[in-house]
Amino acid sequence: MVFIYLQRGFKPRRQDKRNCKLPIERRQGLLYVDEVSCHEIAEKYGTPCYVYSWWDIAQRYQEFDSALDSVRHRIRYAVKANSNLGILRRMSDIGAGFDIVSGGELERVMLAGGQPEDVVFSGVGKSRQEISFAIKASVGSLNIESESELKRIAEAAHAVGLSANVAIRVNPNVAVETHPYIATGLHENKFGIPEDQALSLAVHIHHNEPNLQFQGLACHIGSQLHDIEPYVAVLDALLSCQERLAEASVPCPTLGIGGGFGIRYEQESSFSFEDLSALLENRTLGETELEVEPGRSLVGNAGVLLTRVEYLKPAPATEFRNFCVVDAAMNDLVRPALYQAYHAIEPVEVSDAGEQVWDVVGPVCESGDFIAQERKFAAHEGQLLAIRSVGAYGFTMSSNYNSRGRAPEIIVDGDKISEARRRESIQDLVRLEVS
Ligand code: LLP
Repeated sequence: MVFIYLQRGFKPRRQDKRNCKLPIERRQGLLYVDEVSCHEIAEKYGTPCYVYSWWDIAQRYQEFDSALDSVRHRIRYAVKANSNLGILRRMSDIGAGFDIVSGGELERVMLAGGQPEDVVFSGVGKSRQEISFAIKASVGSLNIESESELKRIAEAAHAVGLSANVAIRVNPNVAVETHPYIATGLHENKFGIPEDQALSLAVHIHHNEPNLQFQGLACHIGSQLHDIEPYVAVLDALLSCQERLAEASVPCPTLGIGGGFGIRYEQESSFSFEDLSALLENRTLGETELEVEPGRSLVGNAGVLLTRVEYLKPAPATEFRNFCVVDAAMNDLVRPALYQAYHAIEPVEVSDAGEQVWDVVGPVCESGDFIAQERKFAAHEGQLLAIRSVGAYGFTMSSNYNSRGRAPEIIVDGDKISEARRRESIQDLVRLEVS
């Protein structure tokens, strides 16, 4: 797949140097994103502030691409993980396709210069409007998640007199080890269509739906997965479905195994790309195009959220806790409150003050508003902290709760800093309201 980079003019930069260092690392006691110090960014853009390393994202993309080298494949970046236009534009430049779940995400991809043909549209609740928009834009594939949706897509395609590329999302009933909110591949989950029904719908589309072009089968079984086993089950299930379709003379040129490849937040190890390569080398895919939809594994570890300590509230007695009140809150990063997710947190500048155990909390008026609990570090008021691994599902899940403007997003590319989204003002928040 090297040709993609050449085709789109992407030159991996300073690879040799990068391979031996982290993109977000400490130098002489100070935290850096690529070549830029976190202090410099916080001074310039204030806090809280999201910062992403483009070097890291491009590197992850390349590793992923190489892991799939033995088969025809396509990487479709899951836009929901981080949909900043600057990230999408750069993803498109390095040859990524996109996985989307709303008309809004399609608009974003197009605004960022991405091609609709490179997009697959998943999701259980696509509206009529979204479906028509996607068909008119000629998206690569609408991934059907129910029989009713199939009818709706066929009607919409007929109404506009166009042909729509479709795939069917299979629910393979595969269990995964992850937070229950983000497991999606069991029959008890709302996603996809059980295998037998999916196959009869595929046969139906092939023979009876002149406005629909059947492209293949897709799956997505969950997020933040660490083991290869569920992917083995998924790929084998899809290959056997493909075989059954071949017996019914229905071509099935693409198979999608979804996203979900896990990253390291704490002590866990990242999903192993070597395992994925080995899996593919042991299966015969022939001319089939394998599609993957990674979100978190491309962008998750590439982001930090910079935040400043406002107040320290040390425990007055043993039954109390030590609170470190920072200027980022659950509206900026909801994962700890929503999934009890762990995000590492560390001072940007090493200090020799005494370490203590702190709950890092935000200004929002809920006790669920915490970023981290029981973390040991040396804290002081005015200190700059970095919350790690927030490149995926950080900003995209942020809100304006408590009328807090959302944080800016900064993309660092080597020594270049770009303000990819400005901080929201109160005028931005009330723009659509009347008093
Ligand atoms: N494809 C489909 C159809 C999906 O639904 C998702 C994620 C992905 C791909 C990308 O999965 P990834 O590679 O990023 O794991 N908000 C949660 C994660 C929700 C994931 C939803 N679907 C979190 O913060 O952990």
